[in-house]
Amino acid sequence: MNAGAIFRLPAIAAAYDLLTAHQLWCDDVARLLQGAALAGAGGRRVLDLGCGTGTSTFVAARLLAGAEVVGVDLARAMIERARRRHRRRHPDLTGVRFEVADAARLPFPDASFDLVLGHSVLYLLPDRAAALRQARRVLAPGGRLLLMEPDAEGSLWRAAAANAGRLPGLLRRPLTGLRFLASMVLWRLVSGGAGRLSAARLEGSLRAAGFDRVEIRPTLGGLGLHCAGAVEGRAEQRPGRG
Ligand SMILES: C[S@@+](CC[C@H](N)C(=O)[O-])C[C@H]1O[C@@H](n2cnc3c(N)ncnc32)[C@H](O)[C@@H]1O
Repeated sequence: MNAGAIFRLPAIAAAYDLLTAHQLWCDDVARLLQGAALAGAGGRRVLDLGCGTGTSTFVAARLLAGAEVVGVDLARAMIERARRRHRRRHPDLTGVRFEVADAARLPFPDASFDLVLGHSVLYLLPDRAAALRQARRVLAPGGRLLLMEPDAEGSLWRAAAANAGRLPGLLRRPLTGLRFLASMVLWRLVSGGAGRLSAARLEGSLRAAGFDRVEIRPTLGGLGLHCAGAVEGRAEQRPGRG
């Protein structure tokens, strides 16, 4: 079974939510978006690849107010849970919708998005090159791709040592701290099986798919990489949704 298939097991959607639908994971999505997207992307039509239960999609929709945000995932159970969370907890986000779709065969026309987000997804895909080519295809001129991926060079011990100063803060929110810790350990285990990415490999893959101005920096205490790539051209001016 490939690592992506784990997420299609029926019980995983609830377990995944328990581990990652918390502030520390949301903060990482927000940092990814703030670091690279808001300045240059326009960000009005956003595609969230491998959106899971919607955590990354909801963060994007709140940060990029007025954007149309489409979350796609191959696992139907993840999409059903994302839709339920949308109805129950984020009904005000009227520009958000979720669809079952494969990142390697996106059912969208060319140049139909300004921003493609993939938070902890590419490493799971059996054909990463195809998914990157699809992301490039659906991005409009001037569009941006933003990824967060597990770093092949990262180490749990080094991350723990680098974050020792945050321990008192985590102890004040022990449940969030525990969920975050469990999610990081499981992420290392799953990504170890699926194949983590080095910065050099990520950069080479983005360039091979036709992305420009590739920038990569560490996140999550060195366990992850934030990666941004751009599509040549000027973003078209469109009226905002409000
Ligand atoms: C680690 S989760 C990340 C979820 C979300 N982006 C977040 O940050 O919480 C990875 C997601 O990618 C999805 N996935 C795996 N293979 C996929 C594919 N080929 N196309 C679309 N989604 C896929 C999985 O079902 C899973 O929900």
